Amino acid sequence: MAAGQQRSDFRLFHRLRVRWAEVDMQKIVFNAHYLMYFDTAITDYWRALALPYEAAMHRLGGDLYVVKATVEYHASARVDDRLDVAIRCSRIGNSSLTFTGAIFRDEQQLISSEIIYVFADPATQTSRPVPAALRDALLGYEGGETMLRAQVGTWADLGEEARAIRQAVFVQEQGIPAELACDVADAGAVHVLVRNRLGMPVGTGRLLPADIPGDARVGRVAVDHAVRGARVGLAVMQALEEAARSRGDRRIVLHAQRSAVPFYDRLGYQRVGEPFDEAGIPHQEMVKLV
Ligand SMILES: CC(C)(COP(=O)(O)OP(=O)(O)OC[C@H]1O[C@@H](n2cnc3c(N)ncnc32)[C@H](O)[C@@H]1OP(=O)(O)O)[C@@H](O)C(=O)NCCC(=O)NCCS
Repeated sequence: MAAGQQRSDFRLFHRLRVRWAEVDMQKIVFNAHYLMYFDTAITDYWRALALPYEAAMHRLGGDLYVVKATVEYHASARVDDRLDVAIRCSRIGNSSLTFTGAIFRDEQQLISSEIIYVFADPATQTSRPVPAALRDALLGYEGGETMLRAQVGTWADLGEEARAIRQAVFVQEQGIPAELACDVADAGAVHVLVRNRLGMPVGTGRLLPADIPGDARVGRVAVDHAVRGARVGLAVMQALEEAARSRGDRRIVLHAQRSAVPFYDRLGYQRVGEPFDEAGIPHQEMVKLV
């Protein structure tokens, strides 16, 4: 491990700005902070794999424990520097995962790191082989493969898992009454469920026929809180738009929560009319030709 790693060796970058609280009397970043920077980047790494860490580890029957962390300092970072913290999984052993890290200020590499985790039983803290599904997800991500798979189906097929995501997002997180999270329209709607590489459902949405022929109505779009920003919402919307196109709809209409309007803006939806209140939350009608 040394300086000289290329930015192109990495897929994941966490960007941060050095704060006063992180520098020492020499006005350079206190050495111990770099491990915290890498730890934050590794959190982003699991998100990029669309793995809600806690639930994923529970499903895999283990957890990851750091057994060794090394940091090499090649040059100092200073207050207000903008740093890119890069991480990749560089080796998968029998029970260990090695992450190689590098911190760049623009093109200059300041820091190298290697962090070794062991997959172990949380009860006994004895090591276990890295599960095949986790190995597959890590190799796939590093190989540039997609981490998401969208499934289109009926409420009978997908309702149980879709309901669990809606319950977590709309009822528990947003405080919307449970009877609004799921309703009678679900039975006749087309549903999308997006799964990660472990097969865990992480996002959902539904497509209803609207009142005007050729119009479809999208709703109940929700993504597991732990993996937001990992393009799960995008995968849900792409699958819903494809389903609308394939049944001959020409336009999608939706009521976006105000906080989600920029998400739909990015997908090409246009705002129509003034914001209004629905279920106690400000909404905006938006439309897109598909
Ligand atoms: C809104 C929601 C579905 C977005 O899902 P997500 O998986 O986090 O979104 P993605 O990662 O697919 O984002 C796609 C793009 O939109 C951007 N984006 C997503 N949510 C955004 C937001 N609230 N504000 C600004 N941009 C946003 C992302 O940065 C990304 O941009 P990029 O392509 O430039 O990188 C999700 O945040 C969610 O479930 N929120 C709570 C429930 C909700 O509001 N549902 C919508 C009801 S109308």
